Amino acid sequence: MSEFLKDLKRTSDCGALRVGDVGKRVVLFGWVASRRDHGGCVFIDLRDRGGSTQVMFEPSLSAEAHTLSGELRSEFCIGIAGTVVDRGERKNPNMPTGDVEVHCDKLTIFSRSETPPFDISDDTTANETLRLKYRALDLRRPALQKNFLTRSTIYQTTRRILATNGFAEIETPFMVKYTPGGARNFLVPARQSPGHFYALAESPQIFKQLFMVAGFDRYFQIVRCFRDEDLRQDRQPEFTQIDLEMSFVNEDDVQQIMERLMSALWKDVLNIDVPTPFRRMTYAEAMGLYGSDKPDLRFDLPLFDATPAVRKHDGGNVEMLRAALGTRTGHDAGIVKGWRLPAAHAAKISRGEVDKLEDFAKGFGARGLARARLGAGGIWTQSGMKTMTDALRADINAAAGAEEGDLVFLQFGAPKLVNAVLGALRLHLAAKLDLIPRNQWKFCWITEFPLFDSTDDGKLVASHHPFTSPFAEDLERLESDPVTVRARAYDLVLNGNEIAGGSIRIHRPEVQSRVFRAIGMSDDDARAKFGFLLDAFKYGPPPHGGIAAGVDRLAMLLCGADSLRDVIAFPKTQKGVDLCTDAPSPVSPKQLEELHITLRSTP
Ligand code: AMO
Repeated sequence: MSEFLKDLKRTSDCGALRVGDVGKRVVLFGWVASRRDHGGCVFIDLRDRGGSTQVMFEPSLSAEAHTLSGELRSEFCIGIAGTVVDRGERKNPNMPTGDVEVHCDKLTIFSRSETPPFDISDDTTANETLRLKYRALDLRRPALQKNFLTRSTIYQTTRRILATNGFAEIETPFMVKYTPGGARNFLVPARQSPGHFYALAESPQIFKQLFMVAGFDRYFQIVRCFRDEDLRQDRQPEFTQIDLEMSFVNEDDVQQIMERLMSALWKDVLNIDVPTPFRRMTYAEAMGLYGSDKPDLRFDLPLFDATPAVRKHDGGNVEMLRAALGTRTGHDAGIVKGWRLPAAHAAKISRGEVDKLEDFAKGFGARGLARARLGAGGIWTQSGMKTMTDALRADINAAAGAEEGDLVFLQFGAPKLVNAVLGALRLHLAAKLDLIPRNQWKFCWITEFPLFDSTDDGKLVASHHPFTSPFAEDLERLESDPVTVRARAYDLVLNGNEIAGGSIRIHRPEVQSRVFRAIGMSDDDARAKFGFLLDAFKYGPPPHGGIAAGVDRLAMLLCGADSLRDVIAFPKTQKGVDLCTDAPSPVSPKQLEELHITLRSTP
């Protein structure tokens, strides 16, 4: 007698059968997704990663299989053998296999299932905490299976495209020397060197640059990175990069490879041809128009600059506006910017809803949100700025291109805050009013980032990382006016998401020293921290550059998922906890002792 697994091998997955298969003998393996007993005749939906198929049990087909089918319950793992039959009148158009069913004459139960903690279907109402705790069951759901199969395609396409473009796949260590700057690191105690720690690599950055010194020329790696950051929808503490580095290149060369890779991914996963080359926009332009260095370009509605108008009218009899421009000087000088929502959309938001947006702005640290609804002749209604001169109001209306019925929002003060508030407001209202078209892919390179950011206490930090090359023509200002120096850095942005970032690197030691000094790192400090890189750079480093793309974010976008957690098999929660395995967890005093670690108090 034939046996499952030994003689009866799987003939297809549960999503494959169609009308053309009618009459075939098949063997399917999978899980019972649902079971219906129609008195004498039992139906189940059998599910595996390929999909699901209806299977019927009837005494006339096999009394034994029919009797055993009485025991079947949800999530039993079974094998069936039978014949594919046309469902005739009973076709199910909602199932890809819905034209057929399998009439089973042989059934085996590989294992039984307790009642699962939640309904394993895409319509499950179970909350995410429960689903993450029982993640293996959650991952059985068709939507998640699809996401991870897509993710698998992303890896395969990436390897194919990069290999055919001459990239060598080389690994770098995870346990690395701690170097300050950048993200906060996870530390790993080194048992054999008491009091010493490895850091988990936040990226392979330095190693890939060493690969260029070594002459590998084109390197790539699909690599896990670790950053102890505050988590958000688009951030996980361990995430995956497609990391690459190339020698003898400029920005265009790196960007072209990335465009080739993105086109191939969109083709392979979604069968969509994305046009290349992608649009390019400078950082200054992106911040100016959208208040963000990762603008969502699926809709326009840009911000406008009211600073010249407010300056021209010296605040136009509004003390707050006058003060906003006066309090700061230099690159952090106050600005006044606005955003206009055209009348057709503005009409859909009530005054009460507009008033509530003030709290939205306050969430970013703003003191408020100035706003007005334009009446006939450009007068401002529903506005707090009652003292404003007609002349300033007319000039702001002109800067905004505002007309009757439009809503105008204004924000003033430090550029960072102004852009953050208005950039977020643009996205918030566009989403609320459904102004963001679906199924559009707006790739854009953001270029010419500032080399440095200034922190709240006035210090300079590298805005990308300290190995990023400054623009040659800006080098003369590195010491005298560092905040105006542009970096040869580029981010790839898609629909408001930063999906990749990279730069052309510094390969001349004297430029590297000047950049370190600009961020307050003495030559000795630099030596202590990056001596190995600086040493390697003494021996003929090639000009080089690279980029890293976030696989999780790419997968999220390609899968149409809302959160990285839907494309990471075992993700961490907001608090950094893996609910499935319950990590992190306490360890025994003996383990701590071996690591020479004493806890200050029991947490
Ligand atoms: P960067 O820090 O910009 O560059 O990271 C590259 C890309 O990785 C993704 N990413 C993340 N995804 C999920 N969770 C996170 N916490 C997270 N942080 C970053 C983003 C980002 O664009 N070594 C440089 C690259 C280079 O210069 O070549 C680097 O790591 O999509």
